[in-house]
Amino acid sequence: MIVAPILSLLYFITSQTYLGDLMVRTTVSVIKADIGGLAGHHIVHPRLKEVAIEELSNARDARLIEDFYVTAVGDDLQLIMTHRKGVESSEIHELAWNTFKRATNVAKELGLYGAGQDLLKDAFSGNLKGMGPGVAEMEFEERPSDPIVIFMADKTEPGAFNLPIFKIFADPFNTAGLVIDPRLHDGFIFEIMDVYESKIVEMNSPEEMYDILSLIGTPGRYVVRRVFRKSDREIAAVVSTTRLNLIAGKYVGKDDPVAIVRAQSGFPALGEILEPYSLPFLVAGWMRGSHHGPLMPVSEKDARPTRFDGPPRIVALGFQVQESKLIGPSDLFSDVAFDETRRLANIITDYMRRHGPFMPHRLGPEEMEYTTLPKVLEKLKDRFKTE
Ligand code: F6R
Ligand code: MG
Ligand code: MG
Repeated sequence: MIVAPILSLLYFITSQTYLGDLMVRTTVSVIKADIGGLAGHHIVHPRLKEVAIEELSNARDARLIEDFYVTAVGDDLQLIMTHRKGVESSEIHELAWNTFKRATNVAKELGLYGAGQDLLKDAFSGNLKGMGPGVAEMEFEERPSDPIVIFMADKTEPGAFNLPIFKIFADPFNTAGLVIDPRLHDGFIFEIMDVYESKIVEMNSPEEMYDILSLIGTPGRYVVRRVFRKSDREIAAVVSTTRLNLIAGKYVGKDDPVAIVRAQSGFPALGEILEPYSLPFLVAGWMRGSHHGPLMPVSEKDARPTRFDGPPRIVALGFQVQESKLIGPSDLFSDVAFDETRRLANIITDYMRRHGPFMPHRLGPEEMEYTTLPKVLEKLKDRFKTE
């Protein structure tokens, strides 16, 4: 009599395990922080990467994470992790926080510049939101073969992704699949954040394309945060915006951003995802977070900004996600096909630099990271005469 329920329970357990194996839900988390630079705000010291690799190896051994890749872009230490804990997992955020903390101790020992600068709080309290590090995360059910691209930029802001993300997911002159692949033809949903008001809006492309552009053409205020495929609301892209929530009402937009984009089989092809970067378009950031300059796509080894602390850089790494393991990476912008883009970026760098302290090279007063203007105005207040 008791055998039947036991048998059915056993069947239930095994079938669940079987189903669980078939439908692997993987989370990719890219978490980054500037916790000290070698020779100013320049590059990450190799010792900091070693510390991060040690910490994440231990976490992988303990099965907290499934896999990881540690790299650096400019002065930002990048932790790329896969796990099965979902987005905003406090365990994963705490692992990143503790890793940055330990690396900060080494940065202090070595006297690195700005040691610990992105760790804005003393103690971890459950989530990295508002604590300094940048976070981009997405959870998805793995396809039989699942390619992703991780983008990491230095000396710019999250809104720098507005233009390329729009081109990838909404511009038929960039993404041929929008026109000729039935799986992309319905278009995508853009989740846009107003960083001044801390508000979110969802908009549909292609139907609301012009309205989307009227917002995200102001990348210092409206930032594309996530993109979903319209036909099934499957996550397609995510951009780090964690820091933007920091202080309501105060603009804290300058945070060297990262993004994750899914590729192929119903998403844009790898080449459609990289194509927008063939134009070294102008972004805000660069020297003292207060200048416009061209975004230069580079390989990992060339992510070492020196010219006027720039020009702003972006690195793209391609991975296959396979049973929550990271296969790769391929250093995508190391392709010689981006040589002319880099050459043009260098020409634009010269051109922009010749404007010195003049707008539009220098940002407008409301967007500058710091400014002497109020002091100058205060000093001159008695000397300004009404005509
Ligand atoms: C920009 C950046 C650098 C610094 C600049 C001045 O994001 O990190 O351009 O703003 O090197 O740095 P401080 O004020 O530390 O001397
Ligand atoms: Mg820095
Ligand atoms: Mg940086």
